[in-house]
Amino acid sequence: MFEDILKNFENKLNNANKETELDALRVEYLGKKGIVQSLMEKIKTLSNEEKPSFGKNVNLLKVNITNLLDEKEIKVKNSMLEKEISNTVKTDLSEIELENMGSLHPVTLMQLELEKIFKSMGFSVIDAQKEVVTEFENFEAVNVPKDHPARDMQDTFWLENGQLLKTQTSAMQNYCLRNLDMPIRAIFPGRCFRNEDVDACHEMSFFQMEGMIVDKNISIANLKYFMDELLQKIFNDKINYRLRPGYFPFTEPSFEIDVECRICKGKGCPTCKNSGWLELIPGGMIHPNVLRLGGVDPDKYQGFAFGLGLTRLALMKYEISDIRDLNSCNLKILNQFKE
Ligand code: DAH
Repeated sequence: MFEDILKNFENKLNNANKETELDALRVEYLGKKGIVQSLMEKIKTLSNEEKPSFGKNVNLLKVNITNLLDEKEIKVKNSMLEKEISNTVKTDLSEIELENMGSLHPVTLMQLELEKIFKSMGFSVIDAQKEVVTEFENFEAVNVPKDHPARDMQDTFWLENGQLLKTQTSAMQNYCLRNLDMPIRAIFPGRCFRNEDVDACHEMSFFQMEGMIVDKNISIANLKYFMDELLQKIFNDKINYRLRPGYFPFTEPSFEIDVECRICKGKGCPTCKNSGWLELIPGGMIHPNVLRLGGVDPDKYQGFAFGLGLTRLALMKYEISDIRDLNSCNLKILNQFKE
């Protein structure tokens, strides 16, 4: 009898492939009014001789049915899950069109292009991606002591521990002077932060590319020749620029290189604050104090440094009129840069 009940159950179990069908079987066999329970109740009516073996068989039946039901339940749940997964995750990653893979950001493209140009001119690229720097690195080491009015030119985000978010890639000059072998020809691109009012040509966070040449007998003539070459390489000859005196505590003399605004072709627009020109490469002959603080003897070595505005250059080169578009996730703009 017990074998027949088990066989019967197994047949029904074989045909049950849904969770609801399994639930129904569980109720039918193991429920309060189920087959196993009614067999249990029958024990009371049996003679003392019959009771032990009957009871044993009922228990065995209960254990078998419970185990078989549990096993089947796991199988059914797993196969349901697989079905669900195969229905929802239809996408084969190899089939995603390359078109939808995104593209490099214009500033990154600009940085890579410049790195190529600088490398072709014998520069090494130094990784200066750290964003939190010491007050010494950002200011003192580049000849901007405390209370120097030049600190006001760069509204700084100070951290509670006295460190700050790098306001200029010049903050890495000291590191390079101390760590690179002479002669130095290095660029160090990086992200900078200033607590500025945001407008068409100012953002609180932007990218610069600092460069340095330190060697024997370096003069302004080298700087002038170098900038000429650099701008020709960046803009393929098609740019008007001007070199004018500037002021920076870390260079003496200091210069500004302005390029004609490519958005308005020099007529004046919000991008160039209506001047027709955009300050692009400030630079100058490295101040002897900066060399000294970097462990370099200014009587032996001279050099020039510059802090190219990478974000601004991307605006000019790709003719983007508003710096805010670069951080806007505006796909109309970003999609144009797919290779
Ligand atoms: N650090 C300056 C700034 O962010 C730019 C600069 C000027 C860098 C002159 C230089 C330099 O290396 O020589 O405004």
